[in-house]
Amino acid sequence: MNYAIVTFGCQMNLHESEKIAGILRSVGYEKEVAPEEADIIVFNTCCIRENAENHAFGNIGALKKLKRQKKGLIIAVGGCMAQEPGKAQVLKEKFPFIDIIFGTHNIFELASLIERKKSEKRVISLYEDRLETEDGAPACRTSYPNAWVNITYGCNNFCTYCIVPYVRGRERSRSADVIVEECRALIAEGYKEITLLGQNVNSYRDGDVDFPELLDRVAAIEGKFRLRFMTSHPKDFSERLVAVMKKHDKILNLLHLPAQSGSSRILKLMNRRYTREEYLAKVALLKREIPEAEITTDLIVSFPTETEEEFGETLSLVREADFSSAFTFVYSPRTGTAAAKMEGQIPEEVSKDRITRLVAAVNENTRRKSEKYVGREIEVLCEDFDEKRGLYLGREPLGRMGYFASENNCVGEFVRMKVTRANGVSLYGEKI
Ligand code: 5AD
Ligand code: SF4
Repeated sequence: MNYAIVTFGCQMNLHESEKIAGILRSVGYEKEVAPEEADIIVFNTCCIRENAENHAFGNIGALKKLKRQKKGLIIAVGGCMAQEPGKAQVLKEKFPFIDIIFGTHNIFELASLIERKKSEKRVISLYEDRLETEDGAPACRTSYPNAWVNITYGCNNFCTYCIVPYVRGRERSRSADVIVEECRALIAEGYKEITLLGQNVNSYRDGDVDFPELLDRVAAIEGKFRLRFMTSHPKDFSERLVAVMKKHDKILNLLHLPAQSGSSRILKLMNRRYTREEYLAKVALLKREIPEAEITTDLIVSFPTETEEEFGETLSLVREADFSSAFTFVYSPRTGTAAAKMEGQIPEEVSKDRITRLVAAVNENTRRKSEKYVGREIEVLCEDFDEKRGLYLGREPLGRMGYFASENNCVGEFVRMKVTRANGVSLYGEKI
């Protein structure tokens, strides 16, 4: 018996799919295969924007025929979309062939849901009130040499555009001792990079241990590895955190600091709790202490009532904050959020024009920064072999992808390479 997992969305979901794989293995499913060959297909869905949802709907709908042809095939749908208020009902009605629906808080229950499916036609399990901090799922990791480690779940920020607080519940932090032990075991197993994960890692707290303290403890683990974290909310990004980043070479000087907008009026409407000036002050603080640090970000265009001038402030922020890259999004109204009820939703043609100009500005930064690498020596952590290019690839410490040829398999090794050419975020060169 084999399984397939189809994941939509962010790193959080990718890591949760590793936990789902661990659970499936513990109940006898042997290996991951393509959906057409699987005995169980699990969808781990995302609902952050409408297109993520449409994508999931399309993929689930496409399985109707397979389900009819293959007796005994189990189809399970979990994750953020399943947890969204009212969506389980929609899923049930639209796709009567779904066997199991489970929410974001029910992953650790999946084994028992599969067992229940043997005697029930359809199993639905969605909690809202039982928020665990230890899911107990033995992750079956697929991202070697990187390992993701959750430190917080949920979010309390209620940015007015965002559905996350409604589908992932209130923020809770895992025990610092458990996290440090988990990281120690991963390094001992041979992982070379740890990424600490949370919707807002900066508000981590376990008793007296806050995020800078936790980061300091993880970085003190012996061995050669890289340490990263995401996501940081600008309002909680502190001088103490910068001091810990500066103290340890292992912590990458790479910060994902979502700005969302460059306009203070829009930031207020978004309930982000910082102004453009305060955001830029955090950027300046980081660059003053660690001049080589790079910042990546998330930006949203066409939030309700955004004017051309305010959009211009987001454009100018790209240059001013000197982002090395950015995830750029068109605002997508999400039912139940405060912004979805706001007047002044922006027409699609305007949004298309704004996102095109924003992407061009971000690409210009990425290109300019990558070109400076030509002729330099860098160290990449080799992640994979790219079949199409016939080259190995790995990331340098500031997040660019380096491609190089190698006779031997060097996945999981730190490799020094000389950069001969840059193309966007990708660097090409020779192994030294
Ligand atoms: N519309 C567009 N982008 C959104 N994001 C979150 N909610 C929305 C929405 N409704 C973006 C934010 C966040 C990233 C993960 O997704 O930029 O940082
Ligand atoms: Fe959403 Fe804001 Fe929480 Fe990020 S901090 S998950 S954008 S509510």
